[in-house]
Amino acid sequence: MTVDLTTKFTGLDFVNPFILASAPPTESKRKILRAFEAGWGGIVTKTIGLHPVENVAGPKTIYQRTSEEKPYVSRMKRADTVSHSSWNWELISDQALEIWLPDLKEIKETYPDRMVIASIMAGAGSQEELDNWCKLAKEVVAVGCDAIELNMSCPHMDRKDMGANIANDEEIIRDIVGAVTKAVDVPIWVKLTPATSTVADAAGAAYDAGAACISICNTFPSLPLMDPETLKFEVEVDGLVTSGGLGGLAILPQALQRVSDINKAHPDGAISGIGGIRGFREAFNFIVHGAGNLQICTAAMEEKGSGGVGVKLIQELKDDLADYLERHGHSSIEDFRGIARDRIVEHSQVRRKSDDYNGGYAKSA
Ligand SMILES: Cc1cc2nc3c(=O)[nH]c(=O)nc-3n(C[C@H](O)[C@H](O)[C@H](O)COP(=O)(O)O)c2cc1C
Repeated sequence: MTVDLTTKFTGLDFVNPFILASAPPTESKRKILRAFEAGWGGIVTKTIGLHPVENVAGPKTIYQRTSEEKPYVSRMKRADTVSHSSWNWELISDQALEIWLPDLKEIKETYPDRMVIASIMAGAGSQEELDNWCKLAKEVVAVGCDAIELNMSCPHMDRKDMGANIANDEEIIRDIVGAVTKAVDVPIWVKLTPATSTVADAAGAAYDAGAACISICNTFPSLPLMDPETLKFEVEVDGLVTSGGLGGLAILPQALQRVSDINKAHPDGAISGIGGIRGFREAFNFIVHGAGNLQICTAAMEEKGSGGVGVKLIQELKDDLADYLERHGHSSIEDFRGIARDRIVEHSQVRRKSDDYNGGYAKSA
């Protein structure tokens, strides 16, 4: 392979633009080292917080599949099925900050050319919580992390001052991004929820307050399915379930729409694209809508024999990107990044059979 896959993104040098998203593939030193050995350009750690975390007393993630024969979505193992989505209700990391810090230091020292982005989360609405964001940020930067991703998008938080619950509040976004930007001197990435019609406004507030990039999408709020015969949800504890997050292939088109919305409203703002990437075709689609960096979770978790870090997947992504660049004579993804922007238009700007249509408004005489 002669093509150069390096990219500069938010001022950081990536050996390739593919990174593991904040999730189980990046929950431990062991997995992160394995991921770097396999060739990932960077990782976003599983989100680190200061508040107590205890997960449900049952499976935290299921993989839903579908088939051509009987295309219902189910985690049930059936012949000839393909992946549809992941569904999870996992909370943020239950590993304490004090355990993370020496691990992060060792990871960065072992792989100085790979980007380590620490995902962090605290609450909102008080100086104490702002201080918590800043404490987390300062400590992970002190052990060598290259950037920080603020998790304002976890879809299953009870606390109303955390995760996706705060991602529509532009004042809160400005306060947190502003405080963390002042506290540390590394790029601040802000991960937003797709579960809002005003994601471009939320992104604007984050960019204004100093965010170096928007990471989008976290998972979509969703429920697992109920089996009509047993009346059990496909994942439940004592018959109960709650809203969790959908990831994987099923969210790809919606994720692209969120990326496009942000890119159209803020053409100069950096975007790290996430949601349903399984190979180069999906990554390509994020890039044409403006993403300069790609994050992957479900596809890596689903790869058998890789310990859930996508060993074959990263090789394929790199090979297929190199092949594409070579065949099209591109020197980097910058050559085709954002090329779809002007082709996403308002509904009424798409040609009709007659000239009379006025977007549903009556034409004035
Ligand atoms: C089991 C699981 C745990 C996750 N935990 C986190 C987390 O701690 N912090 C975070 O920002 N996103 C978390 N995510 C969301 C992923 O980082 C990613 O945004 C989402 O899964 C969409 O990407 P995908 O379609 O490639 O899976 C989690 C996803 C899964 C499936």
